[in-house]
Amino acid sequence: MRKQNLYKNFWKNGYVILKNYVSKKEINKIFNQINDLTNISLNEKSSLKNNKDLDLKYLKLKNKSPKLKSHIYDLSKYCDSLVEIASSKKFLNISKLLLKSKTVFIDTPQVRVDHPKEKTNLPQHQELNQISKDVITFWVPLVDINRNNGGIYFRPKTHELGHVRYKDYHLSATAAGQKRVGILKNLFSKKKYKKYKSISPKLKAGDVVIFHSFIFHGTKPNLSKKVRWVYIARHNSIKTAPYLKKENYPIRIPYNEDYNSI
Ligand SMILES: [Fe+2]
Repeated sequence: MRKQNLYKNFWKNGYVILKNYVSKKEINKIFNQINDLTNISLNEKSSLKNNKDLDLKYLKLKNKSPKLKSHIYDLSKYCDSLVEIASSKKFLNISKLLLKSKTVFIDTPQVRVDHPKEKTNLPQHQELNQISKDVITFWVPLVDINRNNGGIYFRPKTHELGHVRYKDYHLSATAAGQKRVGILKNLFSKKKYKKYKSISPKLKAGDVVIFHSFIFHGTKPNLSKKVRWVYIARHNSIKTAPYLKKENYPIRIPYNEDYNSI
């Protein structure tokens, strides 16, 4: 997509999708590094160490020691393969173009791991509690997304609504839990919001959905037998970071802030 079109489409729809954006080589590097972490967390003598099936090892570890499994998640954010992509030219060129800025704040990237046969999903939400009001999120599946393993679903153009305050909006999506599904269904059945329908695009490993923080988005349950691995990076605008202007403000904007006043 041409630069001009990318900018236009992003601000018109609140998102763009680019195919084949992250290479197989970059994806393999992430998996290899998570594999390295997993091998260290597994018992030294574990016969699984030489097994090439990362899903199998990760899930075995999850059963054996959920705590160590979560440690892998916590530390994977600092792996150079993840940081390298978030700070790569191709990511920065896009966020700087979209935010019309020479400088952006790169938040810690992450690999989101959705375990198999998880009935619950992440209810839709706007991306709050970030450094800035305007955040460009890169959502990159590391495995092909299909009907079975769920994936992202979001409502195009909801960025034009600004920050929407609904029941329990001040809670994170995780804290709000499944109750939020009903609350949002209610909200989007109202006349003013009816036209904003959810979509769930077909995505292959390496494709990217780039969306604005005010786009309502969530993930569907992973009903497959495999782990759903997704890479997420966020670039924050330096122009809408209250921490730069207010002496006694936290570095992350609180959930209960009126974001429209920033
Ligand atoms: Fe989110």
